[in-house]
Amino acid sequence: MNASAPSSSRPGAAPGPTQVVAIDLADRSYPIAIGSGLLDQPLTYAGLPNASSVLIVSNTTVAPLYAQRLQAALAGKYAQIHLVILPDGEAYKTWQTLNLIFDALLQHTCDRKTVLFALGGGVVGDMTGFAAASYMRGVPFVQVPTTLLAQVDSSVGGKTAINHPLGKNMVGAFYQPLQVVCDLDTLGTLPARELSAGLAEVIKYGPIADLEFLSWIEAHIDALIARDPVALAHAVKRSCEIKAHVVGQDEREAGLRAILNFGHTFGHAIEAGMGYGQWLHGEAVGCGMVMAAHLSQRLGGVDAAFVQRLTALVQKAGLPVVGPRLSATDNAGRYLELMRHDKKSEGGAIRFVLIDRPGSAAVRAAPDALVREVIDACCP
Ligand code: NAD
Ligand code: GLY
Repeated sequence: MNASAPSSSRPGAAPGPTQVVAIDLADRSYPIAIGSGLLDQPLTYAGLPNASSVLIVSNTTVAPLYAQRLQAALAGKYAQIHLVILPDGEAYKTWQTLNLIFDALLQHTCDRKTVLFALGGGVVGDMTGFAAASYMRGVPFVQVPTTLLAQVDSSVGGKTAINHPLGKNMVGAFYQPLQVVCDLDTLGTLPARELSAGLAEVIKYGPIADLEFLSWIEAHIDALIARDPVALAHAVKRSCEIKAHVVGQDEREAGLRAILNFGHTFGHAIEAGMGYGQWLHGEAVGCGMVMAAHLSQRLGGVDAAFVQRLTALVQKAGLPVVGPRLSATDNAGRYLELMRHDKKSEGGAIRFVLIDRPGSAAVRAAPDALVREVIDACCP
């Protein structure tokens, strides 16, 4: 499938002024602003619609760091700025937590023009987006992602959701934000483990869409881990360009967009099987990519050297490359059971995103016997 996106930035160039990547979706198009100091700048939000109120949704970790600054930046434009603070963690990506957003919207008599701001990582972003999609049948919202993972992936493209105990992100909606604001400075407070988790989603774009980017990541992995601002700026921008290109062709995942789930079928099984929050989403995806690469090799898409190359990069990013055992008796059976709940499954048949040649991916079924081989090899 053709996912190669034109690049408009020069690797190694200074982060410089704000860069903008456009998501081109007709009347649902929007800009992703990427730069330093954006959060505090009233100008960042100048293009948003007027409204009598806004609701900032954040969590107990991010709100103390950044909510006041966002409130200050919005104060000149909006008369009433409300804040709701959610509990922090994947384990809280639930109906109960979602309801806290609706409670706040109703308690503050928010109307159809109220703009929601998602200030946080992917968990806050996914839940705020779902709340925006459904409150009064849809109100505008803005993504202000503060994790690397959210800046390179979850804030872009309009997938919103909560988890169900039987499956990850099983209840949600496609609903695009009005704007995405990636302030690279916020990555300075991110714990190292979370930075690594974000790198999983950066790495993902290489094997599925852009081998040149994969080589660039390999060459800059130490700089990325050291949070070099130039390296981070390029990683966020190139990731957003590739995602924008894919989403622009297939907003609602009729086909091509599914390649963005490389590593996620195994990864979601790890997350659900271990209990949400035990493995970070990015950690599960990192390990899941290694497992998906092994399966791709067994089906002839890549050779052992490519699997080794990807494994080495995932490991260098600080991510696990050996999967957990999810059952003491039939580990592969448990993985298969969990993966049958994947959204790509059709009639109970699991479908995987596999590399059909380096730099290109496709969704395929695979014989259970081969999948069992991979699980046995990767989760000893
Ligand atoms: P997260 O939202 O749980 O954030 C990770 C941790 O970092 C949290 O404890 C958070 O409070 C903290 N944090 C956030 N910003 C911080 C900062 N600047 N400084 C210090 N701490 C900070 O996790 P995540 O990795 O951002 O997102 C994972 C979620 O995103 C998963 O639920 C996943 O399903 C979802 N996701 C969605 C999409 C999509 O397309 N919608 C894509 C990928 C992942
Ligand atoms: N993160 C996968 C997608 O947005 O489609």
